[in-house]
Amino acid sequence: MFSERSARERSPNRLSVAVARRRAFGAALVDLTVSNPTLAGIPYAPNVAGALARAEEVLRYDPEPFGLMSARRAVTELWRARGLEVAPERVALTASTSEAYAFVFKLLCDPGDEVLVPAPSYPLLEHLGALENVRLVPYELGYDGAWFIDVAEVARRVGSRTRAVVLVSPNNPTGTYLKRDELSRLSALGLPLVSDEVFGDYALVEDARRARSVLEANEGLVIALDGLSKAAALPQMKLAWLTLGGSAPLVDEALARLELVLDAFLSPSTPVQRALPELLATRGVARDAIGARLLCNLAVLARQCGGSAVTLLPVEGGWYAVLRVPATATDEEWALRLLEAGVLVQPGYFFDFGEVPHLVVSLLTEPAVFARAVERLIAVAG
Ligand SMILES: Cc1ncc(COP(=O)(O)O)c(C=O)c1O
Repeated sequence: MFSERSARERSPNRLSVAVARRRAFGAALVDLTVSNPTLAGIPYAPNVAGALARAEEVLRYDPEPFGLMSARRAVTELWRARGLEVAPERVALTASTSEAYAFVFKLLCDPGDEVLVPAPSYPLLEHLGALENVRLVPYELGYDGAWFIDVAEVARRVGSRTRAVVLVSPNNPTGTYLKRDELSRLSALGLPLVSDEVFGDYALVEDARRARSVLEANEGLVIALDGLSKAAALPQMKLAWLTLGGSAPLVDEALARLELVLDAFLSPSTPVQRALPELLATRGVARDAIGARLLCNLAVLARQCGGSAVTLLPVEGGWYAVLRVPATATDEEWALRLLEAGVLVQPGYFFDFGEVPHLVVSLLTEPAVFARAVERLIAVAG
């Protein structure tokens, strides 16, 4: 009766069973998996929510497939602040980055087509692909003391049904940004490049080799995904955008086809589109507070890991840090042991890290809680 794509593994994993058991007993738990900024004690600009009510003409509906031009222009201002000139006609609004992925897969793929995705990376990609009947083929990121895109490995994964390469910059959870030389070698593969840049504004170190965006490419078709959920720490507003770049004829064809997809859904709400200029103009308060918190927690983590058996892998940006833990246990076993000690972390296998045990911790955690949790983590695993 039901579609194959709506079927999924529903039995809970060992860690979530153990977490539920612990919570049922009312046992205290310090959470190092926080990813929702609205629950992380982050300050926002005064009366930010009022922007929706203050925006003019929220009762008027002008259905526009790509979104209201005033909101698309606000996105081009954001690109300008990041050093890139983009025409507003190349910007399309969606309700979320997840929806943007779904629309891009509809644009580029037929059922059974393949898209290459990084491993380790964002776990939701697997479901976003499956829901569009797209087969996601992982390409392993290289690691030589720092993570990098192994373009030869990407090329090896290309097959007759490959329709695009997904990049996540900075990647969740490895924190690696796309570098300019990687971008030019990936462009040479001749496939559309879809770059998830939601964490782009959260750089933790400087690096002159870094591409500002996939939009630096001027050949092929490139699509950058971004949205309010991370850029303004406002996931509840449900507004994201995709921006197209590369060769003009390809961009024009993609926009013409995308219009049909966007017009069929018209999903972003008018009030949030009208409020977008103000939400972007005032986002600095939350973004800077998060940036400062990430740096503070990262410094604590580096200090605590020093001289222990836990290795903090280099982080270039984003909200997460990756720890390599001793191979005396699997990452799931380490996560279960830490849970016994009252600390919740994500095991590396959630992100496809492979055999070597890794743990992922959120740098968004409130600093006092973070310091306490890391101390316990090192006491158990270090
Ligand atoms: C890499 C990455 N992309 C996209 C998203 C989600 O974005 P949105 O809330 O706009 O769907 C997340 C959320 O954590 C993420 O980690």
